[in-house]
Amino acid sequence: MLRKYALALALALVVAATGGRGAAAAAAPSPGAAVPHGAYSRRSVDAPPQLGAAVNAVMLDAGDPRYVHTIVRHYGSVTPEYEMEMSQLEPERGRFDFARADRIVSFAARHGLPVRGHTLVWDQMIPAWVTGREWTRSQLLHILHRYIQTVVGHYRGRVGEWDVVNEPLTDGGSLRHNVWERVIGPGYIALAFRWAHRADPRAALFVNEYGAEWRDAKERALHRLVVRLRRAHVPVSGVGFQAHLRLDAHPPQAEFTGVLRSFAGLGMRLEVTELDVRAGGPAPLARRLAEEAAVYRSVAAACRAVRACSRVTTWGVTDAASWLGASQRGLPFDSSYRAKPAWLAVRSALTPRA
Ligand code: XIL
Repeated sequence: MLRKYALALALALVVAATGGRGAAAAAAPSPGAAVPHGAYSRRSVDAPPQLGAAVNAVMLDAGDPRYVHTIVRHYGSVTPEYEMEMSQLEPERGRFDFARADRIVSFAARHGLPVRGHTLVWDQMIPAWVTGREWTRSQLLHILHRYIQTVVGHYRGRVGEWDVVNEPLTDGGSLRHNVWERVIGPGYIALAFRWAHRADPRAALFVNEYGAEWRDAKERALHRLVVRLRRAHVPVSGVGFQAHLRLDAHPPQAEFTGVLRSFAGLGMRLEVTELDVRAGGPAPLARRLAEEAAVYRSVAAACRAVRACSRVTTWGVTDAASWLGASQRGLPFDSSYRAKPAWLAVRSALTPRA
């Protein structure tokens, strides 16, 4: 036991001393300087192409060059963290506002980074005008259809893949009784995929879920859902595993690899879409960071082991801007943009050996 902690501490100290991949961070211009968007050549980056990051407009607009630098240098794709939620894109009925999401999409285009769209149909982050009253089935069908058509149409050719349906299942494995399911019925899922496909036939369309990284009721239900959709010729192309994990709650690598394989067997593209690891707690920081790195490594290695698994996206970049709060230290870069052991782990698990 003690040896393990000593090793972890040594690893953390080495990382701290060298700044991890900190040469990059140290060379970054000081915060506050204008962000030289065009200044970063992606030719010399150490970004594994399969590694993505959720990026948000508040951070981009704040203009800390370390934020841009870290994304451009260390990541190969982006997901808008919240800017493509329905509450953002259609804040009032019939009034679409693409401004913030567009800023992220053009930032990505400037740097040659593909974009994952997140997310078309979810029971959270929907505007008050949707939740604040009762709708008939045909009214809500019309609202959802127009929403999907407008949003996917707006980004056709610029957003290559979409989380079409987010978190459709309960932990017990039943369909979540959200507003879409209650008013439209369980068929809302198939309809959403068909409408998205019609709006952009080339986009890859995903169902995205959390807590399905283990072999249990929810994972089995997700599997059954995909089988049903495929049988009905619904254009679903992939399954996203969010992977919001914790030091004391993460799947063994072999178990997650097995889950990925069984979905690959259905012909699905697979991605880890929202990886982060809650690493708060009373244990010494060095030990927590080393354990966190082991979780990152095992998730990335599971994806790497399955050909159909093409990308691991972390839900943010720096602990300073994580939805979990900085004290959870859930992301690969610390609050000063120094690479953590988690970054070294995920990068080496994804980078092919020379
Ligand atoms: C979080 C984001 O980080 C916030 O910015 C957002 O507004 C709300 O939730 N599952 C998801 C993500 O699919 O959209 C959530 O993101 C985290 C859980």
